[in-house]
Amino acid sequence: MVIDSEKHYPAAFQDYLQTLTDLIRRYPDARILELGGGRLPSFKLDQLPSNIASYTVNDIDPAELAMTSDEYDKACFDVVGDVSQFTGQFDVIFSRTLIEHVNDGVKMHENVASLLKPGGVAFHLAPTLYSPPFVLNKMLPERLSQKLLYTFFPKRGAQKDKFPAYYSWCFGNRAKMTTMLLKAGFADATIRSFYGHDYFRKIPIVRQIDHFFSTLAARRDWSTFGSYAHIIARK
Ligand SMILES: C[S@@+](CC[C@H](N)C(=O)[O-])C[C@H]1O[C@@H](n2cnc3c(N)ncnc32)[C@H](O)[C@@H]1O
Repeated sequence: MVIDSEKHYPAAFQDYLQTLTDLIRRYPDARILELGGGRLPSFKLDQLPSNIASYTVNDIDPAELAMTSDEYDKACFDVVGDVSQFTGQFDVIFSRTLIEHVNDGVKMHENVASLLKPGGVAFHLAPTLYSPPFVLNKMLPERLSQKLLYTFFPKRGAQKDKFPAYYSWCFGNRAKMTTMLLKAGFADATIRSFYGHDYFRKIPIVRQIDHFFSTLAARRDWSTFGSYAHIIARK
């Protein structure tokens, strides 16, 4: 049994930049903001779409931003804090694997809506509940989940790139997410669900059972059990 490539989790990462670029191209002189861009902003500066007027990279952690070239415009702030100094300034706001690390998902989306210009768009790539590895990550104490990740994925240990994750409002269920996004200040939302993951690849039997279930969920489009989502919300 295989998962259709359009719905399989690698596509969440492979299609991210193209989806984002297509959204940005709709805005002449686009002012764009990346949230939680930290040490690895989504765009290299020479890859930026030509219609961009400004590209600001945010992170809560100055040490993460310091790992990124000073050629980027940087803004160090908490996406669930007071963001009023930037109200209504951006056409496109986006993030890749940020929102699971934020402790108040609703506040984050409300803040994003307030930072957008009218007609602006938000785009987030995020892991979602109730995919089993993310449920485990949420339930286990951070030190234990970090130890497990760095044991099974030594490369991640070398990069020391695991951040505490809360999964606040990181649900796969599209109807539930859409209702929340409309309440948070968006006019509409479109969510693309992805299925499967590779966290259990070194654990036989568990891997096979999980793969069977992920494939079934993908075929039936049970978004509640999706593993990643592309969340597009228009103001
Ligand atoms: C998993 S990393 C993702 C980094 C980058 N987007 C990428 O794709 O590699 C999560 C980033 O979000 C940042 N972060 C966590 N909570 C945040 C918050 N409340 N406001 C802004 N940034 C935050 C972390 O410091 C970290 O750099």
